[in-house]
Amino acid sequence: MPAIGIIGGSGVYRMPPVELIREEAVDTPYGAPSDTYKILKISGIEAVFLARHGSGHTIPPHKVNYRANIWGFKSLGVNRLLSMGAVGGLNTLLWPGDIVVADQIIDMTTGRTSTFYDKDEVYHVDFSEPFCPELRAAFIEAAAAVELPVLTRGTYVCTNGPRFETRAEIRYYSIIGADVVGMTAMPEAVLAREAEICYGTIATVTNFAAGISTGKLTTTEVIETINKSSINLNALLLRAISLIKAQRHCPCKDALKDAKLG
Ligand code: HPA
Repeated sequence: MPAIGIIGGSGVYRMPPVELIREEAVDTPYGAPSDTYKILKISGIEAVFLARHGSGHTIPPHKVNYRANIWGFKSLGVNRLLSMGAVGGLNTLLWPGDIVVADQIIDMTTGRTSTFYDKDEVYHVDFSEPFCPELRAAFIEAAAAVELPVLTRGTYVCTNGPRFETRAEIRYYSIIGADVVGMTAMPEAVLAREAEICYGTIATVTNFAAGISTGKLTTTEVIETINKSSINLNALLLRAISLIKAQRHCPCKDALKDAKLG
């Protein structure tokens, strides 16, 4: 059973030429995931890939069925989830093409179902550290190994989209401590935590956030920057996969312990 899962974001709908073993269409209690899961062999390691927005990018961030996607990974045996996403840069040190291994999240989304536990059972999972420390360490070590400069921490503010933000919103998010802005880390990260799956994100800065530089934000620049970054991203991802140890020693694996009420 593949233990490593990969979620591709905007501009990442498939993996680089790696061996495709099979495709799985997974049915879940929450409905259909974004796409079929591709079971791959990457340098001898089995991994499962899913395109978050569907292979033809037909699903906007607020319509992604995050619960089905995470449930599908879990049902395929995944316990480590490596997520990729496009973000706007608020931190003025960041330029398009830069990569951030975020360590914190501010959730500004609305109307997205953000728990598996909304029926009979009540769970409050610890989310003080929203990203798995072991996956973050693997990303940082992999970046050094492939000589790719990355920002090794940063706060990801997740907006609902699908529109980009106003200048005032970005100014506000800056004041409250955000470094990058994206539309998909939530509820993906917390659902992975509830599923006791380790979750880490490689955020690629595709544009200056609204008002950080002048000019209109376009989806074209987002996709163009991701395409330009794809060689770096793939190198980072493949190296990180090779660094992930079989045993987990992080708190993610016990996320539900002491989290249940009653
Ligand atoms: N805002 C929100 N999400 C994004 C952005 C942005 O500027 N760029 C890429 N994803």
